[in-house]
Amino acid sequence: MNALTRDLAKLVETAEQSQKTREELSVSDRKFREKLHLMPPVGWLNDPNGLCQFQGIYHAFFQYSPFDAEGGVKMWGHYTSTNMIDWEYQGTALYPDQPFDCHGVYSGSAFIEDGKMYLYYTGNVKLEDGEYDYIRTGREGNTVLVMTEDGKTFGRKKELMRNSDYPDNLTCHVRDPKVWKENDTYYMVQGARTNEDVGQVLVFESEDKINWKFRNRIESENPFGYMWECPDYFEIGTKKLLSASVQGLEGGIWDDCNVYQSGYFEIEGDILGEYKLSEYHLWDYGFDYYAPQSFETEDGRRIHISWMGMPDCEEYTNPTIQTGWQHCFTFPREIFEKDGKICQRPVRELEEKKTLISSVEGMLEGNGYPVYELNISDISQNQFHVTLSEELILDYEGGKFRMYFTDQDKETVSAGRSMRYVETIEVKNLKILADTSSVEVFVNDGEYVFSTRYYPEEYKVKAEAKNAEITLYKI
Ligand code: FRU
Repeated sequence: MNALTRDLAKLVETAEQSQKTREELSVSDRKFREKLHLMPPVGWLNDPNGLCQFQGIYHAFFQYSPFDAEGGVKMWGHYTSTNMIDWEYQGTALYPDQPFDCHGVYSGSAFIEDGKMYLYYTGNVKLEDGEYDYIRTGREGNTVLVMTEDGKTFGRKKELMRNSDYPDNLTCHVRDPKVWKENDTYYMVQGARTNEDVGQVLVFESEDKINWKFRNRIESENPFGYMWECPDYFEIGTKKLLSASVQGLEGGIWDDCNVYQSGYFEIEGDILGEYKLSEYHLWDYGFDYYAPQSFETEDGRRIHISWMGMPDCEEYTNPTIQTGWQHCFTFPREIFEKDGKICQRPVRELEEKKTLISSVEGMLEGNGYPVYELNISDISQNQFHVTLSEELILDYEGGKFRMYFTDQDKETVSAGRSMRYVETIEVKNLKILADTSSVEVFVNDGEYVFSTRYYPEEYKVKAEAKNAEITLYKI
């Protein structure tokens, strides 16, 4: 630890301690703290980083800005868990304390091998002789490696690549390394923006996890957004998926969506050579979802966690800013293929936390449960209507599923969010996972998912679905 690290560590600890005291003293200051979802101890959280299971323990790092609930310089906060539900805060793992990451320990991933955890991330540096926000100059996006053998103490950071090591024709936006291994070769994808403002994924290859060679660029046939952030690549069932968080989609359907999108392409062919990308499928159709990352558990499941928040969106604000923090992660989801479709469901560990409240046909009301799961199955009448805390509606009629806030100006519940929907679908079942200030809705066994934050005054749920089975569990 150098002197800067020590000073930063002290400041972070003080900020966390004062938030803790604040929440102990005031019910209203802790009102919207989640029970199942990861949040920053204080300040701001964005992307999930370094997700992995290491020596049996789950690790979730996060983009952390503890000094301001509206963001600032990024470090990596760190949680661990044995079941992906009960998480223990482990403090800050990586501080911006080196010349190559001094303006932010940006996003990255974990790779596990031979009893070691290798963390790859982007070291962000603002350059004085360029304009930081200008796209051609102004920043370094250094690829950095740090290792741990116990998941608690992190070794010396090693700079692996810098701007000059990336291929030509790119702006200084290259970041978010994700690493995996196939046969005896290591691969890394990074997100990039070209000089022509086209989003791409760069593919690198290595034989030793340290020396990386650029091998290919992956982009869609026609330009699709100006920047692809947080890329991920993995196989599910029979499919190979390339996931990317895309900035700069405009017009048509994108005007009714969030500012930035997270989705995946199915990819056929060779990521090092000729390939073909499918159309882009959104991971989530709700208001709050960006920068997901996946990892494989020791028992072979592909888990996906995302930032339940959206950057640069002026339409809404979150009332938790007033109480010293902002944003959370989605609940960990298992990704699976069903009838040729990519689906998501809450991790099965949740089953052990559920207590049955009621199971009825047609109509159900439940009051006073901030954290619950509600399922509607055997939907046969082509319509249903669910009201959460009187103001968030999920309904289905004429083949259109909608999630919307009835009074969009009423800051107390929606904080400015409006409506999201999918059309021309047949909804057969619905699962709602509600926490103190978030709702995740899984339609048709998770073929479509809608996530949003909400800020209810009281917790109530009313579900109507003729002839369907409705079940409420508290968690
Ligand atoms: C995505 C992102 C990443 C970057 C990080 C910085 O939300 O912009 O591309 O590494 O956040 O916090």
